[in-house]
Amino acid sequence: FAGDTASKINSANEYLRQNLPSHLSLPKIAIICGSGLGGLAANITEKVEFAYEKIPEFVSSTVQGHAGKLVFGLLGKNRVPVVCMVGRFHFYEGYTLKQVTLPIRVFKLLGVKVLIVTGATGSLNKQFKVGDIAVLFDHFSLPCLTGSNPLIGPNLAEFGDRFIPISDAYDFTLRQIAFTAAANMGLPVGTLKEGTYCYVVGPSYESKAEARFLRDLGGDVVGMSTVPEVIVARHCGIRVLGLSLVTNAVVMERGRSADPSAINAEARDEAPVSHEEVLAAGSVREADMQTLVRDIVDLISHE
Ligand code: 6GU
Repeated sequence: FAGDTASKINSANEYLRQNLPSHLSLPKIAIICGSGLGGLAANITEKVEFAYEKIPEFVSSTVQGHAGKLVFGLLGKNRVPVVCMVGRFHFYEGYTLKQVTLPIRVFKLLGVKVLIVTGATGSLNKQFKVGDIAVLFDHFSLPCLTGSNPLIGPNLAEFGDRFIPISDAYDFTLRQIAFTAAANMGLPVGTLKEGTYCYVVGPSYESKAEARFLRDLGGDVVGMSTVPEVIVARHCGIRVLGLSLVTNAVVMERGRSADPSAINAEARDEAPVSHEEVLAAGSVREADMQTLVRDIVDLISHE
């Protein structure tokens, strides 16, 4: 219950405060690195790392391509103090949404004001190509609508209100900064696209019928993360920027029919998605994502 959750958040906070060297100031910006995007932490200097196993109440990341450590240090030419989650927790790993989102509230206690959340996604919208980066401006979460919302349970009033809006979750100024940073670094116009993130639990990818359903609901990209962290960040007033790398086009056409008289008898089946494909596409854009996030952090520090 509430007291229990609060004390878990507190013990992680206490541990980190006690073990952070005094030369590092507490971070105002937190970054979550998704699948294949762990290299975002490479540009951080004067690093101090904590394996998730070492931090009280942190669970461990069990997914291939997700390392599992918290990295504190300085990022960019303004040497901005940041904290970076290299590898995140997912609901599909069997953790509760409280466990998945606990780091966000620990960040709040450490003084974080801005969360940059990244991840891999499939594109539902044909205009979103592999290698494009979706700047989230909204999300669609069937799990949250149907009973898997991270805020279920007693409200932690010290963090935020019982009923919170989500209509303003994706900060306008931060989205503008993302586009400015992309232009400054010379990313081709159109690489960044504002889009709606459809959250699904996974770990199986969508069926074709499910994918068409999500597209028809207005989803541009689909993924298995991000939204729980965003909701908990908004609950405690952390500003959010969501960046989702498009790693594959979601398979959704009906494909070949076994009925020789059907119009689909000649259709070709699209190749199914694989985790390897997702990781490979992540590594192609990894350097660009690193530069983009670094430049965004620089611009935020000027705000
Ligand atoms: Cl196609 N679906 C989901 N749910 N998550 C993904 C993905 C697809 N591609 C990368 N992440």
